[in-house]
Amino acid sequence: MNIYIKDSEIATENIVPGKRVYGEQLFEKDNLEYRFWNPNRSKLAAAYLNGLESLNIAEQSETLYLGASTGTTVSHISDIAKDGFIYALEFSPVSMRKLVRLCEKRPNIAPILGDATKPKKYLNLVSKVDLIYCDVAQPNQTDAFIDNMNLFLKEEGFGIIMIKSRSIDVNQKPQKIFKQEEKKLKEKGFKIVEKVKLEPYEKDHICFLVKNIF
Ligand SMILES: C[S@@+](CC[C@H](N)C(=O)[O-])C[C@H]1O[C@@H](n2cnc3c(N)ncnc32)[C@H](O)[C@@H]1O
Repeated sequence: MNIYIKDSEIATENIVPGKRVYGEQLFEKDNLEYRFWNPNRSKLAAAYLNGLESLNIAEQSETLYLGASTGTTVSHISDIAKDGFIYALEFSPVSMRKLVRLCEKRPNIAPILGDATKPKKYLNLVSKVDLIYCDVAQPNQTDAFIDNMNLFLKEEGFGIIMIKSRSIDVNQKPQKIFKQEEKKLKEKGFKIVEKVKLEPYEKDHICFLVKNIF
C-alpha cells in the first residue's frame, strides 16, 4: 500500500500532484508528493493509526463506499487504489455537489446519488467489489451494510463499518451498542477480523473489519 505512516502521522501518495482536497498539507518524500491524512477528519486514518493491520487496499482494489459525504476519506482511498475504482454513494445533494467536483479531478471515483438502505436501486450501477466501506452514521447502518455486503462483495472481499454508538442509541453505553452490532454481524454470517476503537480521534466509535464465513 502506498501509505506513509510515521508515529502519529499518516499520508497517502497524491495521484493529483499539487491539488489538495480539504486543505490538507502536501509534502515530498523520495521525489513523490504525499497528502497528509487527517485522523480527526477521516475514521479510516484514525483506524490505521490505532493499529488496523489486516486491511491492505491494493492498487487495483474496487470499493463501494457508503456515506461518501464530500469525499475526504474517498480521496485517500482513491490515492491508495490508484488503478482501481470507487463507487461513492451519498444521499445528500449538497455533499454530492462537492463530491462531483472531486470526481472530475479523480477519474477512479464515480459519484452515485443514492440511499444505502435501498441497494437494489443501484444494482445496475455497481459491480462486485473487493471492499465495502460504510460510514453513514444512522441507527440502521449495520442492516444497510449487511444488505450491501450480500449484494456487492466479492467472495474474498472485506467490509469495514464505522459505528458511532450515539447514532444508534444515545442512552446506551457505547460498549453495549458495540456488542449488539457485533452480534448482528456474526448472526448474519460474517466473521469479525479486527475491531479497533477510534479514540482519541473520535469518541464512542468502533471500526469493525469483517469478511464472509464460508
Ligand atoms: C459521517 S458522514 C461520512 C464522512 C465520510 N465517510 C468521510 O470520512 O469523508 C456520513 C455521511 O453519510 C451520509 N448518509 C447518511 N445516511 C445515508 C444513506 N442512507 N445513504 C447514503 N448516504 C447516507 C450523510 O449524508 C453523510 O454525508
